[in-house]
Amino acid sequence: MAYTTQDVHDKIKKLLYSLTGITLTENKDIMISNRIDKLKRNCNNYGDIMELLDSIEKGSNVTEFINTFTTNKTHFFREEFHFEDLRDRVLPFFAKKQENISIWCSASSTGEEPYSIAMTISEANKMLSSNIKANIIATDIDTNVLQYGADGIYRYSKSSKEFPDWIRPQNYFKRRIQKSLSGEEVLIKVNDDLKRMITFHIMNLNNDSYPFSNNQFDVIFCRNVLIYFSVEDQNDILKKLFRYLKIGGTLYLGHSENPQDLIHYVKRVGQNIFVKENELC
Ligand SMILES: C[S@@+](CC[C@H](N)C(=O)[O-])C[C@H]1O[C@@H](n2cnc3c(N)ncnc32)[C@H](O)[C@@H]1O
Repeated sequence: MAYTTQDVHDKIKKLLYSLTGITLTENKDIMISNRIDKLKRNCNNYGDIMELLDSIEKGSNVTEFINTFTTNKTHFFREEFHFEDLRDRVLPFFAKKQENISIWCSASSTGEEPYSIAMTISEANKMLSSNIKANIIATDIDTNVLQYGADGIYRYSKSSKEFPDWIRPQNYFKRRIQKSLSGEEVLIKVNDDLKRMITFHIMNLNNDSYPFSNNQFDVIFCRNVLIYFSVEDQNDILKKLFRYLKIGGTLYLGHSENPQDLIHYVKRVGQNIFVKENELC
């Protein structure tokens, strides 16, 4: 049977949706073509690719397929105002009560987001002369990025201004110069104290429920991942996730995401920052 590009793209979209909940829209065709190239190995034609997709549907190479089609863009202190809010509003409260804090970073990608959270806690402890201990659980569906985060080694470019003025990277990273094809590059490796604050786990936000206890977390970061889901699925995920947040806990969403049906159960305290006021009925 002669397959077309459209057949292949439709099959990929269907498969990706069933495995992850990610909805690829019409304008993603170039992205899909580029990513199939990474996946297709010995495929010579669309028929071979359809066979490969059939085998993924039956359970082989599922992880590789998912890892190929996730989009992992992130950087340290992305949407810095969320970390400032954590430092200035949330953490002083924990310092005063001398309580530990439990944080879930629910689409942690290559780790820059949970490490930014950990650095923020460390800075707050210095500012407040406190000793807040944090348990940060970082989850993602993509096993490659989870491994990257657990390794904690990043390329550092002075021009990319990754760190805000209130963070001194030398307090948290060891520098290493590495020779590369384009010359020398600076690598930075997360120090062990910061690493100890975080555990990385695979988790699919599209699952029916999550492996946590109700009201387990004081803070949930769910940023720049909902945008990959349909509006209806975003709402379902938010409702599932909400039950794991304590009353009074904070939910941080990405810049183009909104709390949808949760709006009646939260108080907005800043740009895409929401405090849980009631349990969902
Ligand atoms: C664009 S990154 C956002 C990273 C970070 N939260 C930030 O704001 O910089 C989106 C991440 O969501 C993850 N992701 C996509 N679908 C997922 C799902 N169903 N369950 C868990 N993580 C998912 C991807 O693997 C990717 O690492």
